[in-house]
Amino acid sequence: MSAEKILVTGGAGYIGSHACVELLQAGYDVVVIDNLSNSKPESLVRVAKITGKVLNFVEADICDKQALRDIFSQHKIYAVMHFAGLKAVGESCEQPIKYYQNNVYGTLVLTEVMQQFGVKKIIFSSSATVYGEPNTVKYTEDLPVFGATNPYGKSKAMVEDMLQDLPVADALSKSRDPWKIILLRYFNPIGAHISGLIGEDPNGIPNNLVPYVSQVAVGKLEQLSVFGDDYPTLDGAGVRDYVHVVDLAKGHLNALQALNKITGCKAYNLGAGKGYSVLEIIAAFERITGKSISYKIVERRVGDIAENYADPGLALRELNWQTEKNLDDMVADTWRWQSANPNGYE
Ligand code: NAD
Ligand code: WQD
Repeated sequence: MSAEKILVTGGAGYIGSHACVELLQAGYDVVVIDNLSNSKPESLVRVAKITGKVLNFVEADICDKQALRDIFSQHKIYAVMHFAGLKAVGESCEQPIKYYQNNVYGTLVLTEVMQQFGVKKIIFSSSATVYGEPNTVKYTEDLPVFGATNPYGKSKAMVEDMLQDLPVADALSKSRDPWKIILLRYFNPIGAHISGLIGEDPNGIPNNLVPYVSQVAVGKLEQLSVFGDDYPTLDGAGVRDYVHVVDLAKGHLNALQALNKITGCKAYNLGAGKGYSVLEIIAAFERITGKSISYKIVERRVGDIAENYADPGLALRELNWQTEKNLDDMVADTWRWQSANPNGYE
């Protein structure tokens, strides 16, 4: 029997490339579609180097219906892992149309073509940001998807909403081959593959904490700004649930196996279930890299919340998934990647 073939949208990106490694190592065949708007083809060269396996790469946009049709005509796809999307919160506030076009319309085109070709299994990269600002710090999946504070987050909530309607329509038409959809709500993915060959390669000055800290550690950036030290948290700094990107990638394989067991559309948190503060992250970097991280405390960043972390219990019960790597692994692996590739894939 030939291996199942998975279409990975956005597979050249940070999380997608790690998912490709896990898929290939688990014996799946992989087709990647990526327009390289936020990635380099070198990431896929490195995926091949890590795994010793080849994948099919199509440089195209998911909004390009014909390109998608060509892929589904040429390959018997079993399921889609849908990572392709724009993800910069600040940019999404400045250019909301671009975000809705790429993330929402792109997913519409993708699902339309999937349906035409009878491929009705998809795992979608959602985000804890869809919970908005709930009155709790520990997020369970039954919290309302409501009040995302920026167009990026809203685009994720809109896609979730849209995807939920697909199996409902199947039930109405008594489809014998209904949609099976898993929404994976990531918390804060960090870290890199243990080989140091692939990792996060942000364009320009990073927006997110860990890429920023690691560029300070490697000497590319001078000083980190810590956004606020007066939050009601253990040390006043913001607290987040950081999850190792390889744990996250493995979560997608578990989800793939669970697709046949679920009915309709189901959401799962992927997080460690524990938060760390910005100051704890800085301390871990200093301890593991042996470098001193220069930082200054500045005003809170608009739109930030004090603290959140996942309740990852549902993913454990139904996907048999939990994080295996700890903060030291996350920092050591980030550092291995950053120090070996100070300029990313260039
Ligand atoms: P990334 O930017 O590294 O990867 C996304 C990939 O998709 C890139 O390679 C980009 O070139 C590609 N892409 C974007 N739009 C496309 C289009 N229209 N057609 C084809 N390819 C396209 O981002 P990432 O961190 O790997 O994130 C992957 C997914 O996970 C995204 O959907 C993101 O919103 C989601 N997510 C990320 C985080 C995070 O903190 N990294 C957290 C929660 C959710
Ligand atoms: C983490 C903590 C900051 C930068 C974002 C998106 C979210 C998801 C993950 C995609 C916070 C503090 C940060 C800096 C700092 N992405 N910080 N100095 O904001 O939790 O989540 O990425 O879905 O949607 O919003 O992540 O890494 O930006 O911030 O002090 O230079 O670090 O205030 O407490 P965030 P982050």
